[in-house]
Amino acid sequence: MGGKTVLGAEITRVWAILIHLQRLFTGQASCGHVNRLLFRQSTQGGWECPIQWCWASLPWSFPLRVMEQNIEVGVVGAGTMGQGIAQIAATAGHSVVLVDRDESALKRAMANLDRIFKRLVEKGRLDAVESGRILGRIRTATDLAACAQSGLVIEAVVEDEAVKQDLFAALESVVSGDAVLASNTSSLSITRLAAGLHSPHRLIGLHFFNPAPLLPLVEVVPALQTKDGLVEEMATLMRDWGKQPAVAKDTPGFIVNRVARPFYGEAIRLYEEGVADIATIDWAMTELGGFRMGPFELMDLIGNDINYAVTESVWKAFHHDPRYTPSFSQKRNVDAGWLGRKSGRGWHVHAAGVKRAEPWRDKDLGQDILWRILVMLINEAADAVFWGVASPEDVDRAMKGGVNYPKGLLKWAEEVGVDRCVETLDGLKARYGEERYRCSPLLRQCAKEQRGFFR
Ligand code: NAI
Repeated sequence: MGGKTVLGAEITRVWAILIHLQRLFTGQASCGHVNRLLFRQSTQGGWECPIQWCWASLPWSFPLRVMEQNIEVGVVGAGTMGQGIAQIAATAGHSVVLVDRDESALKRAMANLDRIFKRLVEKGRLDAVESGRILGRIRTATDLAACAQSGLVIEAVVEDEAVKQDLFAALESVVSGDAVLASNTSSLSITRLAAGLHSPHRLIGLHFFNPAPLLPLVEVVPALQTKDGLVEEMATLMRDWGKQPAVAKDTPGFIVNRVARPFYGEAIRLYEEGVADIATIDWAMTELGGFRMGPFELMDLIGNDINYAVTESVWKAFHHDPRYTPSFSQKRNVDAGWLGRKSGRGWHVHAAGVKRAEPWRDKDLGQDILWRILVMLINEAADAVFWGVASPEDVDRAMKGGVNYPKGLLKWAEEVGVDRCVETLDGLKARYGEERYRCSPLLRQCAKEQRGFFR
C-alpha cells in the first residue's frame, strides 16, 4: 500500500518535472522550480533526489557506474586498510578521494604513502615522475561530501556494524544514484549492511587483505540484495587493479577467515594436548609444510586479541559449531596482555636478546603435526565448497592469495589422496568423539567416487 503511494507520488513528480522542464525551455519557469522538484532536504541535512532514488532502488534500472574507465574512487577510513586501498586505486589510474573524520589519520596516511612511494622509486620499481603522478591523484577530506563525484566508494572504517550503517546512510545522500558502495568488512554481514540502504542493490563486499597493496586476493561478496551483474563487474575491476578476485557467499568469515580457522585452532589443540611445543609446531608447518609462518608466529603477528576475536565471532555466527570453538590458552594470553609482537610477548617472547626455544626437529613427529593441521584445513575448504560459499577454484585462489598458503588446499588434497583425508578425519572423530572432526560430506563423496574437486 505504502509502496504504491510512494510510486504514485514519484510518477506525479516525474510528470511535473517534465512539464516544468518544458516551461523552463519556453521561459515559463525558473531553474529553481525544477530544482525544488528534483531535490528535497534529507534528514542528514544534505540534498536528496527522490527520482534518482526511485530509479536507483529498482535493480533493473540504469547501470551502476563502475565499468566506466575513469571513475573517481572514494575510500572512507584512512587507517591500515584504507590507505592501502587508496594506493591500489590511484596506482590503477583512478582519481581517489581519501576521507577520514580524523584529520591526523589523513596526515599519517599521506606521510606513509609518501614513504612507500619513495621506497619504490629507490628500489627502481617506479620512476619518480610516475610516483609523483600517482600520489597527485589522491586528495584527502574530512567531509563525506567530498565523495559526491565518486562512482565507487569503499569504506574501511572501524569494524562496527552501527558505525558502518550510519556511514552508508550518510554516503547515500551524497553520491549519485548510479554510484556503487562497497565495504571492506572482514566479519559483518553484507546483507545486513545493505538492508539499511535506500538502494540496497548497489552495495557489495570488497574484502582486501593486509597489506592490501601486496596481497593479491580480494573477496567479492554480494549481499542478497546486490544487483545482478555487479559481482562480475567488480571482479573485472579488481582484475584491472591487478588483484585476484574470489567470489564468496555472504556467510561468516567469507572464505579465508572461515577456512583458515584450523591453522590456528588445531595448532593450539596440539600444543594443549602436549603433542609438541610451540617452536616445534611452528617448525613443522614452515620447514615441512612450506607455510611462510608457523601458526603461533602468525597469531603473534596478527595479535592474539584480534585472532581470538575473529575465531569467537565465527564460532558464534555458526551457532557454536565445535569446529570453531576458541581455545582457553589463547584467551589466557589475551587476559594476560600477551598479545604478540605489539606487546613484546605472545606465544613467543619478542624482545631483543631473548633466545627462542629450539624445535625438536623430529621429522616423523613434524609430519604428523603438519598432516593433522593440513587435513583439518582441507576439510574446512571442502565444506566451504559443499555449502556453496565459493567454487573450488576460488577457495584455492583465496587461500594462496589472501594468506599466502603454499598450495591450494583442495589441490593439495587431490595430491595426497582424498581417501586418506577421510580416513584420518574418521580416525580423529573415533578417537575424540567430537563433532569438531566430522568429515565434510563433499570430501566423503569425492573419496567414494574416486574423484577430485575440479571437474
Ligand atoms: P583502522 O583502525 O586502522 O582505521 C580505521 C579508520 O577509520 C581510522 O582512521 C578512523 O579514524 C576512521 N573512521 C572511523 N569511523 C569513521 C567514520 N565514521 N567516518 C570516517 N572515518 C572513520 O582500521 P583498519 O585495520 O584499516 O580496518 C578497517 C576495516 O577493514 C575494518 O572493517 C576491518 O575489519 C577491515 N579489515 C582489516 C584488516 C586488517 O588486517 N587491519 C584486514 C581486512 C579487513
